[in-house]
Amino acid sequence: MPVSARPSRKDAAVHPNARLPIPKRPLPALAAALVAVVALMTAAPVRAQPVGQSLPPPVTGARATVFHASSEARDQAPPSLCLQTPLRPDGPPPADWSNDAARVPVFSRVQGRAAVRLLVAEGTDLYGTGEAAGGLRRNRTRTVAWNTDAYGWARAELSLYQSHPWVLAVRRDGTAYGVLADTPERCLIDLNQGIRFEAAGPEFPVIVIEGDSPQTVVRALAALTGVTELPPRWALGYHQCRYSYTPDDRVREIADGFRDRGIPCDVLWLDIDYMDGFRCFTVDANAFPDLRGLDGELQARGFRTVAIIDPGIKQESGYHVFETGDALDAWVQTAAGAPYAGPVWPGSCVFPDFTMDRVRSWWGGLYGQFLSLGLDGIWNDMNEPAVFNVDGKTMPLTNVHRADPDLGGTGTHARFHNVYGMLMSRATHEGCLAARPGQRPFVLTRASHLGGQRWAATWTGDNTASWDHLDMSISMVLNLGLSGQPLAGPDIGGFVGAGSGPMFARWMGVGALLPFARGHTGKGNVDKEPWSFGADVENTCRLALQRRYRLLPYLYTLAREASVTGLPIVRPLFFADPADTTLRAVDDAFLLGDDLLVVANVKSDRAAAGLPAMPRGRWREVSLVEGDLDDPDLPRLFLREGAALPLGPLVQWSDEKPLDEIELLVNPDAEGRATGSIYEDAGDGFEYRDREYRVTRFGFAEGKVRTEVVEGGWAVGDWRVVAKLVK
Ligand code: GLC
Repeated sequence: MPVSARPSRKDAAVHPNARLPIPKRPLPALAAALVAVVALMTAAPVRAQPVGQSLPPPVTGARATVFHASSEARDQAPPSLCLQTPLRPDGPPPADWSNDAARVPVFSRVQGRAAVRLLVAEGTDLYGTGEAAGGLRRNRTRTVAWNTDAYGWARAELSLYQSHPWVLAVRRDGTAYGVLADTPERCLIDLNQGIRFEAAGPEFPVIVIEGDSPQTVVRALAALTGVTELPPRWALGYHQCRYSYTPDDRVREIADGFRDRGIPCDVLWLDIDYMDGFRCFTVDANAFPDLRGLDGELQARGFRTVAIIDPGIKQESGYHVFETGDALDAWVQTAAGAPYAGPVWPGSCVFPDFTMDRVRSWWGGLYGQFLSLGLDGIWNDMNEPAVFNVDGKTMPLTNVHRADPDLGGTGTHARFHNVYGMLMSRATHEGCLAARPGQRPFVLTRASHLGGQRWAATWTGDNTASWDHLDMSISMVLNLGLSGQPLAGPDIGGFVGAGSGPMFARWMGVGALLPFARGHTGKGNVDKEPWSFGADVENTCRLALQRRYRLLPYLYTLAREASVTGLPIVRPLFFADPADTTLRAVDDAFLLGDDLLVVANVKSDRAAAGLPAMPRGRWREVSLVEGDLDDPDLPRLFLREGAALPLGPLVQWSDEKPLDEIELLVNPDAEGRATGSIYEDAGDGFEYRDREYRVTRFGFAEGKVRTEVVEGGWAVGDWRVVAKLVK
């Protein structure tokens, strides 16, 4: 039976750092009656009581409760668009929550919008809020969850490309909780006065997750909103993009550039100019007369290709995508029921309504032929959706989506705007899988929503070549990871503006250690390949990428961990010791997994990089490739005490050769021991689901390494282990 959650009477006036209210002794009966009468005479209209219902523990160590503004709101709630399965409440909220205004939300209405508020106890640090401009710690910030084409955004920008109405709170003692506002509507996340969500549309439920650590809460979020499946291993290599490499010979030149210079790279990207007049799923026959042949050549040299596909479909008779979509009545409609058209790259465009299963299937089906050109992955862009030359940079909010019943049925664009990009990437992911059932889809999306990690990786959009944007790359990727999205990275080098050689070098140093590593830049901008800024910068870039490739076994092990647990690949420093409050705001340093600590220098002054507050233990500085310690533009790396870090050989692309030797970097603890592990499988395909994988544990003790297969049954060629103690 649902149990009422009591709102705090003083909510409106409470200071964010106020002590949580303590229940008062009951008033004598007569006094209580008087108070009640006075209250009745003066109070605002009586509001329905909120209801809270506990959920089965999403993961061990976590408890979760869903709160609705009222029983009516609960009964009428549209289906969630971010959860992977409907909730199954199974009882009243935990008894110890009932007077805790940090965990029991207060519902109200503010200027016609549904609002929810929770208090925040002093010493609590706030994170998450998805792809947000600014620093890692989100206390006293405002974010508006509203997917926006935010070209060259400013640090104070409220809305970027994605929406994650989610806050992770870490208490002073290192325990944590998370608050999820389950609404796809435009939603203000105001962290100035406690945690406040305010959203257009109907009342929305709030899920509060309590955990013994921030890690537990993030894992619980993944249990509710889904995980990123294991990507193909090549996707963890380096990617090179620009707007645009064209014609085909320019792509060959770039491929030569990497291989001739011995700079590792796995993927070359085709931006919109490969298309015929920006028509999606077409190829410009002049610039790319034989794309299939080109892809074959690239593949033979160890390169994969990813091509861009936008949602805007040129409204033009005779164009097969327009014709087939039109025949299917696939487009988002105006309020008057006609297909909505708005300008994007190819001119006037219509937009597939991805809220319908039949439209997603049609869209997915377009990838069969397209991928057969030899493409390996798909980049979905402009899917906020971006529309040119209009206020708000998107389609009218009164437009109509004819959503399937499982998404809540027909509704306005205001309701579906924030999930448009996520549903597009879902259609793309499912289409790629249907076209090539034996291969893992790799989809990159610009717009997304909480839960979108199930279908695509992401990047942080059109950033600027500035020191500030380099700085923000780290906190943005960290907060995305704390919001469920482990596979993210910035445009390395900056999309807008030239920047400088030193900035590029520094950016490559950091970007090469983030989960998704892609260099990219805008049309008309200076070249931004690793060799474009002269020999010194090229050298730094080579070392930066060599480091990444040495770390591939570890990165892949972390991607596998993310796919099982939802833990991010890069983690804030406080993950090493959640109770150490000195680590809470550090965002020029981060952890890659649990074992490698990265200290970046993102300031224009080379000498500025001191060490941040470090987690306890003897972290030792390590070198991954010869010369990296001497390069002041590269981040400094520290290995955790007690960690054994597996490094692969130096390769030019991820599957250049089978792994035959692992160098184990060992930083023994006081007892001379260290542990580590490595996950291996075929690198693509799904055989790993049938035990065709292997997790090997390394144990270092008494000067020797022992290896033990602890999971999986994959029999592959064996590697040697060479241990190297760090001093
Ligand atoms: C958008 C994307 C950018 C891309 C460009 C052209 O601005 O964010 O990455 O290069 O469109 O497709």
